[in-house]
Amino acid sequence: MTYWMCEKCNFVVEAARPPDPCPSCLVKCAFSDVTCYTPECGGQGTMDSRLVAQRAIKREKPGKIVHFSDLARGRTSEGKEKHIPVIELMRGQGKMGKDLVEIAVGREASHPNTADHYIVWIQAFGVKKEGHILDLGREIFKPEKGRPVYAFEINSSEFTHLFSFSYCTQHGVWEQHLEL
Ligand SMILES: [Fe+2]
Repeated sequence: MTYWMCEKCNFVVEAARPPDPCPSCLVKCAFSDVTCYTPECGGQGTMDSRLVAQRAIKREKPGKIVHFSDLARGRTSEGKEKHIPVIELMRGQGKMGKDLVEIAVGREASHPNTADHYIVWIQAFGVKKEGHILDLGREIFKPEKGRPVYAFEINSSEFTHLFSFSYCTQHGVWEQHLEL
């Protein structure tokens, strides 16, 4: 099966052909193929989560702050409070004076964790002061494991923004970013 990403709203859907209209925007949109074709992104037939995240970042205007209410606009799928990957930066609370970042899905309302409906991964990117985008890794989750949280350490003074993406098996890709 092929994964398609809407170029307008970033919605990702698994289907033989691009949907028309987009299930999220509800209008005719251009779709990009974001299927993984190499072992590096998880093996053939899965979604290339890094490609999805990088495409979504490119569409952001530099310096634009996205709020929950902006993200909800135009999205018809359920429960942004269950899906948005919320970024929390705890300055100086990592090892050796580093800053701890915790990205959690379902902070406001817990997301289901069943075999056919769960959060598959949380991916993070940072935008460095010189504009370079750094891959900050991802955590892959299994269903019925509990609340999905991805934690890591950075030197936050090197970054202007942190981006987070989560993927729900039924409701697609969700994003949030934090301006530092
Ligand atoms: Fe969901």
